[in-house]
Amino acid sequence: MLNRYEEALNRIAAKFRRTAEAAAEAGIIPYQSAGGKWTASPYDGNSWWTGGFWPGLMWQLWQLTGDGFFQEEARRAESLLTAEFRSFRKLNHDVGFMYLLSCGADAKLTGSEQPETDLLHAASLLMGRFNPAGFIRAWNEPERVGYAIIDCMMNLALLYRASRDTGDPRFRNTARIHADTTLREFLREDGSVSHIIELDPDTGKRVREHPGQGYGPGTQWSRGQAWGLYGFALAYRHLGEERYLKAAERIAENFTAHIRPDGLTDCDFCQPAEEERIDNLAGAIAACGLQELSALTGAEKWKRGAERLADGLLEHCADWGNERCGILTHCTASYHDDGAGRHTNIIYGDYFLTEALMKFCGKDPELWS
Ligand code: GLY
Repeated sequence: MLNRYEEALNRIAAKFRRTAEAAAEAGIIPYQSAGGKWTASPYDGNSWWTGGFWPGLMWQLWQLTGDGFFQEEARRAESLLTAEFRSFRKLNHDVGFMYLLSCGADAKLTGSEQPETDLLHAASLLMGRFNPAGFIRAWNEPERVGYAIIDCMMNLALLYRASRDTGDPRFRNTARIHADTTLREFLREDGSVSHIIELDPDTGKRVREHPGQGYGPGTQWSRGQAWGLYGFALAYRHLGEERYLKAAERIAENFTAHIRPDGLTDCDFCQPAEEERIDNLAGAIAACGLQELSALTGAEKWKRGAERLADGLLEHCADWGNERCGILTHCTASYHDDGAGRHTNIIYGDYFLTEALMKFCGKDPELWS
């Protein structure tokens, strides 16, 4: 008999088999869905940071089902993403999210050569953002030259992979320097992490913390907590330094203490109690990070935390009908700015929900490794 996670995966594959054709027909990389339609990212065209999640989802479903349709759709999106190398200027540190889950997944799962070349190209772009003052620069605006953000802990996975594939340690050595800066500047006493820290671009010294996508300065944006949790767990897996494991565990303790009784996740752990602002993206990402931590430590409590999250998402926020092309509802891109979506279906919610379920079922292709 199938368990609840295997059943959910089969339903996910069936729904995307129905709805992905519309994305191909529209010629877009889906970002959001509402009113039975896919829409593309609201900003920066195919250079927007979320472009890798659609092909990543297709590769997960190809791994699950072996259905060539999913491979074809993943490659359609991959070619749109590699075309962005040419325009280049809108790409930023999020090339990890974009190219690991597209070219990286393709090279890993099929052994194809061009995707591997494209993956190394992306890794070189990320290396090019490294400031020897000790951090990887996040964004491109001149006034943000010293900004580093917690999300980048996930992009470092591109560098671990490039070192492994080329035998050249400079990629992972760079990742280690950035991870240590993040450890020093972002991790707080209570196990929460900041979203954005501005560093002096010449000395690497801390200038100030900036409010980001959470409720306000010094609060706990839940998705940032999830990026930190999963990102430090991956840093431990790839760099082997105990301090990263300790950081991941501290962030996980704080995150699991804030899971709502219904298993969903507030957008900010410090938001006003009367505010109903959920971000299921954070819950889905943390359900993956907690399983990674459980695999690394053997501790069951992290797996239980991941189950609470996944069960909450499946019970309360999975749309199996036709109102949306995607599945996970109540995803919120940013607390105060609804431009990239509030309480809606957003593609990386579906990606991380699927990755979490693949992990529960022992089928995860480990695209971050
Ligand atoms: N990486 C940007 C975000 O989580 O919204």
